[in-house]
Amino acid sequence: KYEKIWMFFGGGSLLVFLIVLGVGAFLQGTQPPSCLTTINPENVEAHESFKQENLGVQQIDENNYVVNVVASAFNYDFGTDEDGNPQRNLKIPAGSTVLFQGTTKDVIHGFQVAGTNANMMLEPGYINSVEVTLNNPGTYTVICNEYCGTGHHLMTATVEVY
Ligand code: CUA
Repeated sequence: KYEKIWMFFGGGSLLVFLIVLGVGAFLQGTQPPSCLTTINPENVEAHESFKQENLGVQQIDENNYVVNVVASAFNYDFGTDEDGNPQRNLKIPAGSTVLFQGTTKDVIHGFQVAGTNANMMLEPGYINSVEVTLNNPGTYTVICNEYCGTGHHLMTATVEVY
């Protein structure tokens, strides 16, 4: 007699569990975490932050900077330096708070400033960002930590904190 009750209880628990799981998966959907804004990967320049002239280091105020980057196989586009060459070395004064914002034109790339807390994925169709305060002077290497193809290891740049 009691077995029937327990079976019912067990089945009910399983049902509740499945509903919670289903609703959770549905509400969170297919959105990768930490992605707030969507972007057309075929036309990233349509977004103000990723226009060619807005790439790289942008000073907001005395202690706040934004770094905009567009990744593609196999390059990080930070705009151009003072000589008109592709920017490869980002200069940031020590003690600055930096918001790194990035996206990708093709596949998933990583964006990690080795030795700092700046570490994010760049996903096609999304803008990802990470904010860090860079207190310690030094030269930090930017690396792609998502395998993205044959030129994966070529995706490097440096952040110089001075
Ligand atoms: Cu880009 Cu690995």
